Amino acid sequence: MSAPTAMRVVSGIQPTGGLHLGNLLGAILRWVRMQDEAECLFFLADLHAITVDVEPAALRSNVREMAAALIASGIDPARSVLFAQSAVPAHAELAWLLQCTARVGWLNRMTQFKEKSGKSREGASVGLYTYPVLQAADILLYRATHVPVGEDQKQHIELARDIAVKFNTDFDVELFVPPEPFIGGGAAARVMSLRDGSAKMSKSDPSDMSRINLTDSDDVIAQKIRKARTDADPLPEDPALLEPRAEAKNLVGIYAAVTGETPQDVLGRFAGQGFGALKPALADALIGLLAPLRTRLEELRGDPAELDRILAADSGRAAELGAPLIVDAYRAVGLSR
Ligand code: TRP
Repeated sequence: MSAPTAMRVVSGIQPTGGLHLGNLLGAILRWVRMQDEAECLFFLADLHAITVDVEPAALRSNVREMAAALIASGIDPARSVLFAQSAVPAHAELAWLLQCTARVGWLNRMTQFKEKSGKSREGASVGLYTYPVLQAADILLYRATHVPVGEDQKQHIELARDIAVKFNTDFDVELFVPPEPFIGGGAAARVMSLRDGSAKMSKSDPSDMSRINLTDSDDVIAQKIRKARTDADPLPEDPALLEPRAEAKNLVGIYAAVTGETPQDVLGRFAGQGFGALKPALADALIGLLAPLRTRLEELRGDPAELDRILAADSGRAAELGAPLIVDAYRAVGLSR
């Protein structure tokens, strides 16, 4: 196989509905920015989505919803490869080969499985247990050099490295490229609830006022920011002083992520002023980001056939990119395909 390109980015996101500002600033906009830095493959991790309870109709609509949101946010399916994982069979095939390389002891250390299976370990699906091996296949299939993920996924990337190295060693090949977790594309904002600065912004929070949905109108965005919980103190100059002020820190962090500045830059403009000054400016910045995105999202939603066409075309490109590796992987273990 040819040498890997200097930098190839691969990342996946589980298809969920109810997208909000946390998804956008925490993950999606980083992907958008990475398109300028590297060759990128982004996929909807729909095979991962079925490791927990499946609602087929919801899954089908969530795949389209997430694909539409990614495109509306700026993932360009002509420049990056954007596809559904299940549309490229090599992901599942390679996952099987790698399940025979990964060790039970390694999977037993995965903290995400422990969290997700909770007290009902015996009742969890086997797929949930081997989830990180499928994730390793996603990455290794394309010889990704960089894998943009959140902190919670670092252990899975390390596992992918271990699997890559063991496979290469066991079969005396130089097939897999051990990937690196990648913290590029600008800082990912950890977006917290607008009602409680200690809880992550989440689609499952019962209060809609806690989050900004990608479908919220300009008025609703402005209202949610106006009502966001804050404290009575003026903003400081030093970002470190925001540490004990979770709600203030969150709003400054959101502002910085939206404008592409650092919290320090934002405080440079607002230090000494209160939230009466910051909130209207933040609402304007958010509306500036989200209004065009919402319009594009509505267009894409109105044309599911076009969305399916885009995903199908890109899954063909992904399959081509992964084809040589899957053949070599079968050959390495003594099989042919
Ligand atoms: N497990 C990842 C998450 O929940 C999603 C994912 C699946 C992924 N396959 C991947 C991320 C491959 C990076 C690379 O966020």
